[in-house]
Amino acid sequence: MNEKQQIILGIETSCDETAAAIVRNGNEILANVVASQIESHKRFGGVVPEVASRHHVEQLTIVFEEAMSQANVTFEELDAIAVTEGPGLVGALLTGVNAAKAIAFAHDIPLVPVHHIAGHIYANRFVEDLKFPLLTLVVSGGHTELVYMKEHGHYEVIGETRDDAAGEAYDKVARTLNLPYPGGPEIDRLAQQGEESIQFPRAWLEKGSYDFSFSGLKSSVINTLHNAKQRGEDLKLEDIAASFQASVVDVLVKKTVDAAQEYNVEQVLVAGGVAANKGLRSRLTDEFSKLAIPLVIPPLSLCTDNAAMIAAAGTVEFNKGNRAKLSLNGVPGLDLEQFNDEASS
Ligand code: KG4
Ligand code: ZN
Repeated sequence: MNEKQQIILGIETSCDETAAAIVRNGNEILANVVASQIESHKRFGGVVPEVASRHHVEQLTIVFEEAMSQANVTFEELDAIAVTEGPGLVGALLTGVNAAKAIAFAHDIPLVPVHHIAGHIYANRFVEDLKFPLLTLVVSGGHTELVYMKEHGHYEVIGETRDDAAGEAYDKVARTLNLPYPGGPEIDRLAQQGEESIQFPRAWLEKGSYDFSFSGLKSSVINTLHNAKQRGEDLKLEDIAASFQASVVDVLVKKTVDAAQEYNVEQVLVAGGVAANKGLRSRLTDEFSKLAIPLVIPPLSLCTDNAAMIAAAGTVEFNKGNRAKLSLNGVPGLDLEQFNDEASS
């Protein structure tokens, strides 16, 4: 094999997907195996942390062996093992961290810690080479952030949610509407069939702020439903979904456009589970084509949690010289910008 090639195993267990992947040179997927637990959590209307950890323990070996076999690589060919250190559910994170440590120790392979959000950002690298400076709109179940990057592996959070994440708002509103978990794709589907007949609020916050807030919108949807019920009015589910989605998309798109212009970026990326949203994808595509700023959105399978993205971000950390000790722990509230100070020699 060519000496310059880097082959990295990625492991991801921060929430409800057990995932392992093998990536070459940070941008080529050799295997990307994901075991979703959605069916197990559905009946509870959300992820049950203890159930998630147990599933990870059951699935990890199978998923990891499947990835190695699909990629047709040996342990000797692995340059590093990249694992999600955080953020996420602590018990879930620990299963992946411990599996990665065991493989790293047994085969004497360097261990590299990865921030889950860096992973979501680097999912875009499978679509296009990254051009700096760039801006990423991160919209997942746990995070809503605008992240500015002047170079590989350097992250500046210029705005973030002050309460609920976008995906969390989708899931909570869906629950109120008695839709199954996860609610995001359900609302997205209904929104395509509805009209924006209700004017829900948009939380723009102070002028110039790139922060977000979705809890007021969520309350407004709940109040609207409640009032309609009291008056005996029937609201169309599709219209509520379309009106809610219009509010979320308006704010996400406007703030991303403003930040991209202010920071004069070469590229805009979209990352995280909510990047799968059809309404968001089409509005972003329209707006950025008008501005002639290149926009990258990963395919649906790379928007939701997977380990290829962890291996891609891990390749960057590996090349920065960032190594984890065997005392590595899962960190539920891990800070993204902390990775800027990690070894860069
Ligand atoms: O990034 P992700 O897979 O997991 C986290 O790291 O949180 O994101 C999951 C979130 C869930 O809240 C889910 O409802 C949302 O992404 N989601 C969507 C869509 N597909 C997934 N939200 C809106 N529209 C979608 N099509
Ligand atoms: Zn995620």
